Order: sequence, then structure tokens, then C-alpha cells
Amino acid sequence: MFKIGVMASGGGSNFKAIIDRIGEGDLEAQCKFLITNNGGCGAVGHAESYGIPVYHISGKTHPDTAAYEAALLEVIDRYDIDLLILAGYMKALPVSLIKRLPDRILNIHPSLLPKYGGKGFWGIHVHEAVIAANEKESGPTVHLVSEEIDQGRILAQTRVPVEDGDTPETLAARVLVQEHALYWKTIKEYAAQIGV
Ligand code: GAR
Repeated sequence: MFKIGVMASGGGSNFKAIIDRIGEGDLEAQCKFLITNNGGCGAVGHAESYGIPVYHISGKTHPDTAAYEAALLEVIDRYDIDLLILAGYMKALPVSLIKRLPDRILNIHPSLLPKYGGKGFWGIHVHEAVIAANEKESGPTVHLVSEEIDQGRILAQTRVPVEDGDTPETLAARVLVQEHALYWKTIKEYAAQIGV
């Protein structure tokens, strides 16, 4: 049984998909905490329903950058986690945090990286760019987090067709279904690979 912590910002559907798989016994892990930078994050209610501690740490709660980083590290260090899972976390991680958990931080991104990754490519903006470029396929990527945004080693991808008449929203919804199927399996495989 390995231990994970999760960071999320938005709707929280990836977080829910992961903790549901843990609840079903498909993913033999314990989720020790949720960190969010957004008090309205959809993941908060899901965490509370599973009794998972929630920490709200953001520029609002900690306006001083050093205090913000220290607060994040304090939570990370308090729980002895094997993997940190970014599940729709929309803020770049401080380098100090990335260095604390080398090759132990996973992210899911809603495009076939290396395409449509990096600064400015997050959430719906990714799908807007994919449609504007007339791509015929897209799909989620799970990758390790390194100091260069969206450039860490790719662990898994799923190809999803872009349909005629797709809007960023319809494409996002089709990709999101595949994210939910891909992320927990990739976490499971990676944990087995690194022996945690
Ligand atoms: C997901 O599509 C995820 O891939 C994307 O945000 C969405 C969050 O949905 N993440 C990024 O763009 C990170 N750069 P969720 O809150 O419902 O899981």
C-alpha cells in the first residue's frame, strides 16, 4: 500500500476518479491529503466525503512567497508520501518542492505532449489551441514533473479523435473521460515500476 498526496485547483474530477479507484480497491494506495490553491475547488467536497485532510495554500492565504513555499513543504514533509499527484493543479510548483520529490511528482495534461504544453497551455486553452490548429487528434498525457513546465518524462498517453464540429468544450469533455481512465492506471504502473 503506497501513499499519495494530491494537489488540485479546478473541477476536481481527476481527483475524484483517483480516490474512487482507491475506494473500489483497484488502486492499492492511501490518499493522505489534498492541497488546493482554490477554496472553491470541486475536489474539496470529494476529499471531505472520504475524510481526507484538505489544505488551502495559495497566494491569498500566504501572500509572502517564502511563507507560501514553506507552507507547501510543511504539508509535504509531514506526510511520508511516495508520490505527489497533480490532478488539475493550475499553478507552477515552486522549484524547492520539485527538488524535494525528484521523479515522485506526476501530472496529467490534456494534450498529446510535447504538443500544446508549457506556459499558457492549461485547461480549456489547450483545447482551444488544438481546435484552432485543426488537429485531427488530441488526448491526455501523464508525465513526471520536472523544473521545465510540461517537459518531464512521458509515462502514458491516450489518443482521442477531434471530431468535425468540436468546440473546445466538447473536446475537453471527451478528453476528460480518457483522463479518468488513464491516470489511476498510470499511477499504479509507475508505483510498481519504482517499487513503492
Ligand atoms: C484536466 O483536463 C487536466 O488535464 C487539466 O485541467 C483539467 C482539470 O480537470 N490540467 C491542466 O491543464 C494542467 N496543466 P479536473 O479539475 O476536473 O480534474
